Amino acid sequence: MKIRYKILLASTWGAVATGIVCVAVSRSTLRTQGIEQTRNAMRTALIGAESVRDSFSAMGETGVLQKEHLLSDFRAIKTAGGDVTGTALYQTIPIIAGWRALDTVSRQQGFSLRVAKENARNPKNVPTAEDTRILAALERQKGDEYFEVNEALGEMFYARPIILTKDCLSCHGDPAKSASGDGKDIFGQKMEGWKVGEAHGAFILKQSTREIDRFVKESTQTMLLVVALVGVISLGVSLWIVAHVLRGFAAIEATLSER
Ligand code: HEC
Repeated sequence: MKIRYKILLASTWGAVATGIVCVAVSRSTLRTQGIEQTRNAMRTALIGAESVRDSFSAMGETGVLQKEHLLSDFRAIKTAGGDVTGTALYQTIPIIAGWRALDTVSRQQGFSLRVAKENARNPKNVPTAEDTRILAALERQKGDEYFEVNEALGEMFYARPIILTKDCLSCHGDPAKSASGDGKDIFGQKMEGWKVGEAHGAFILKQSTREIDRFVKESTQTMLLVVALVGVISLGVSLWIVAHVLRGFAAIEATLSER
């Protein structure tokens, strides 16, 4: 190999290797950051929904919500056989208010939302195989949140258990304490005998990793392009310098041999 190529190789391999390592490290950092950001957005959305639920519970307890008025309205619609889910009473059930708030945020953020519960009242909430796996993981780890990046499915999951508070018991509590005396709640549905502090079901948010992967791919391509460009420029500059130095040597050699 000619001396000029040996010098070139010695001066550029380190720079090229550094460039490639930097791109690889940035790529993995970008992906981790993207996932972390999504996780935080999901957590914020769910904690927001819990706070909406708490506000409605507090309003119920302090009597701000005029229950008598809501109830008479509800009874009129129920007796007429109308859709009770459209009543103001239904909308002010804390868990429903939280759920609706979460649904709005999820649509805006592009998350898909599931409310999963075994033996659910609403058939839509009966757990899918995916929900069952997440509910089991939540129960196993007994924490207040669960997060998973499933690379095989290309999806991220964030879930929080639904914990019972006192105000839930009028509908989900001890059937023996049913106001109507028949073990049913005001909606005419069987009370489940749940207790304060128990976890029943979970809110589960899901989002594809596709957007993050697309962003990481585009950024990596840009970074590689910049590295390649800088590489070509520095190779050109090195070539010029090496040629210059070698010409200097040749001149010295010529002078020496003349003597
Ligand atoms: C006024 C009655 C009432 C109260 C109070 C109430 N719920 Fe419910 N809950 C319902 C009804 C009715 C449904 C079914 C909703 C539907 O049809 O989608 C439901 C559904 C649920 C579900 C979804 C699973 C399923 O069975 O479909 C969960 C979880 C739940 N409630 C938890 C709670 C918690 C926690 C509280 C207290 C913060 C609470 N609920 C307070 C009436 C009530």
